[in-house]
Amino acid sequence: TKPYAVLGIETSCDDTAAAVVRSDGTILGESVASQHEVHAKYGGIVPGLAKEAHELAIDAVVDEALQQAHLTMSDVGAVAATVGPGLEICLRVGARKAAHLASKYQKPFLHCHHLEAHCLVARLQTELEFPYLALLVSGGHCQLLWVQGVGDCSVLGGTLDDALGEAYDKAARMLQLSSATGGGPALERAALRGNATAVDLPVPMKKRKDCDFSYAGLKNALRGRVAEKRIERGLSDEDTLPDQDVYDLAASFQSVAIEHVEDRLRVAFKRVVGEAGASPTLALVGGVAANAELRRRVASVASQAGWRLVVPPPRLCTDNGVMVAWAAVEKASLGFSDEIDEEVEVIPRW
Ligand code: KG4
Ligand code: ZN
Repeated sequence: TKPYAVLGIETSCDDTAAAVVRSDGTILGESVASQHEVHAKYGGIVPGLAKEAHELAIDAVVDEALQQAHLTMSDVGAVAATVGPGLEICLRVGARKAAHLASKYQKPFLHCHHLEAHCLVARLQTELEFPYLALLVSGGHCQLLWVQGVGDCSVLGGTLDDALGEAYDKAARMLQLSSATGGGPALERAALRGNATAVDLPVPMKKRKDCDFSYAGLKNALRGRVAEKRIERGLSDEDTLPDQDVYDLAASFQSVAIEHVEDRLRVAFKRVVGEAGASPTLALVGGVAANAELRRRVASVASQAGWRLVVPPPRLCTDNGVMVAWAAVEKASLGFSDEIDEEVEVIPRW
């Protein structure tokens, strides 16, 4: 069939994103408006503010993606939006915009699952056949998935408490690193200047040989180390820790957080290798996959185990519209489409 363009819209969390992707995998236009600054002073995402920011940004973000693609809505072949999982009032903003456009311009409409879109975007620019193992690490999720096809994936393990990105964000806040780029990237930058063996932190669930994650214990241990350092330095409540202490704490936290990932990956490799075919492949996806240290260490564990690694470029790891448009291409190529209803039902806990 002739290539067609899909407009994808993503508003499940704190990024307002849209993209136009051609069914042959070419990215024609993409735009993201991030809200880090909106939430920075609250120490977490405030749903009501996130929804408002999405409403303010959505039209311009969609227009920008179309403009970059040199297309108007009539040239677009289909419209897609993330309908879950995510924050209900945020999901609605993108889903309604997409349903409205689909209805107005009489285009097929496709619903996307946010986590599946993260996993499928690994197939956009790289030869990657089903089945494959996916390590999905984001702000809301931390999972090992066995991806067998579109709409067909099983969960090998997930987090018992905090997700990896959430742990990065909370650690960054403890270290007062929150910045305009968000906690995770700020912690990664601080860690570059620190000594990863300077501070002793426990590797989570070292003895358990399953695929589940837990980051709450590490987070609490870090809080303890920060308090100890403050006492050691004789700081009062208004004082901040010396920079080098912050860098060392950040580096030590990141190193142990990633060691937990390495441990779980080794278990997952063994569990699915029998079904993985001649060229077993791991896809590293989700916002934290933008982290260079994680990419480096996961590449090393994969190569030691004889697994191929596929990692999308960083901007396709964090929330984006391209993954939504591409997931829709994958669904459409199998003949799926969804009903257009401008009051589209979102599925926050999908
Ligand atoms: O996939 P994503 O954009 O949104 C969710 O679906 O949650 O992931 C966002 C998460 C945040 O926790 C953010 O701090 C983290 O990914 N993140 C990073 C980096 N870039 C984004 N964590 C560590 N290092 C990074 N470079
Ligand atoms: Zn995400």
